[in-house]
Amino acid sequence: MNAPLPVEVLKQHLIDPEICIRCNTCEETCPVDAITHDSNNYVVDPEICNGCMACVPPCPTGSIDNWRLVVRAEAYSVQDQLGWEELPQEKPLPLDAAAGGEGGQATPAPQAEAGPAQAAAVTAATPGAAVPPWSAAHPYVNLYTHKTPITATVVGNYRVTGADTESDIHHIVLDFGEQPFPVLEGQSIGILPPGVDAQGRPHHARQYSLASPRDGERAGYNNLSLTVKRVTQDHGGAAAHGVCSNYLCDLAKNDTVQVIGPFGHTFLMPNHPQANLIMICTGTGSAPMRAMTERSRRLIGTADIGKLMLFFGARTERELPYFGPLMKLPRDFIDINLALSREPGQPKRYVQDLIRERAAHVRGLLADRNTCIYVCGLKGMEVGVLDALRDVVVQSGEDWSILHDVLRREGRLHFETY
Ligand code: A2P
Repeated sequence: MNAPLPVEVLKQHLIDPEICIRCNTCEETCPVDAITHDSNNYVVDPEICNGCMACVPPCPTGSIDNWRLVVRAEAYSVQDQLGWEELPQEKPLPLDAAAGGEGGQATPAPQAEAGPAQAAAVTAATPGAAVPPWSAAHPYVNLYTHKTPITATVVGNYRVTGADTESDIHHIVLDFGEQPFPVLEGQSIGILPPGVDAQGRPHHARQYSLASPRDGERAGYNNLSLTVKRVTQDHGGAAAHGVCSNYLCDLAKNDTVQVIGPFGHTFLMPNHPQANLIMICTGTGSAPMRAMTERSRRLIGTADIGKLMLFFGARTERELPYFGPLMKLPRDFIDINLALSREPGQPKRYVQDLIRERAAHVRGLLADRNTCIYVCGLKGMEVGVLDALRDVVVQSGEDWSILHDVLRREGRLHFETY
């Protein structure tokens, strides 16, 4: 009669605001829309999250992988989490709950240890792989955080699009001197812009993909490069001032920048001989493709490199970052396909159109288990690219869904879109 009421325990899924770089990957990935955000934080709604784990592998920082045992009735609400600057300390559970008695046992709700069925659901939730290619080098992540940023010095900053065009895209080189900052192609870093946001809080870091290979923008130097587009409009075309992109594009040589990272452990290039790369990008999504291409180029003569095929979308040639240097690369090294959407006198073309035009070649590469595919750039192209790949495969009488699963499982299909 006097027994205590059962206490239901929840293994609550939380995001560490000190590590999160607000890249939106988790919110996009969550199959049940349990993740939301405001200008301060990304948070998980305990009423919706079912612990399927789909968001965990794609998170580039690991900030998503935080859990607290709480009494379900006292779970941290969305409102609580939106106000956090750091994760709360673990709170001791009531004795009967912690003891796992009849009342306390109940639900370690979210399933941090996903079983095979959940793992399958995880794979299906995202179009790309949650693992790197088998031969990728091991990346370092989170060496420097919001609390412990590293200072880099600007050693170069110049425009890589035609001066007369709307697309103001800069190639920015940052040097780390004698401080360790090990990176791999496909990884990204966070830049902390100076100043505060509308609420008076320091700006959060903005994420940029590396445009240089692991051994430096200049081989043997402890530096790296970024490809940054000055943001002057929002996605809807209304005037908007990109805090970090304008800060970066206006930097002068010898200025210093606060950097965090590196981030990313899946969008990595294979490291074995004869590995082929299909690279599909738009605009500044070319950064990781430049890094991988340059890594491969530096290996010419020393390693048995495979085939490189690039699909690159931009409005016009003059708005295509790195157009000049790209066109100078030997044709027997890289197969370049430019999709120009607003070039006067030419039909509008997107990368997916060119994938279809080059179907035989793409199919040949897809049939080779040494081929990895990387897609980076506008979110909108994701569906178009997947449709084009499906068409290419189906035309040859094969089953796309089987191949798509294989590509994901083997870490051979990667997306980074925004
Ligand atoms: P569009 O001329 O239709 O805007 P941006 O310069 O805005 O970064 O875009 C890079 C390129 O990506 C442009 O050529 C742009 O064409 C193209 N693009 C826009 N939407 C898509 C999409 N859904 N799929 C593929 N490419 C796209």
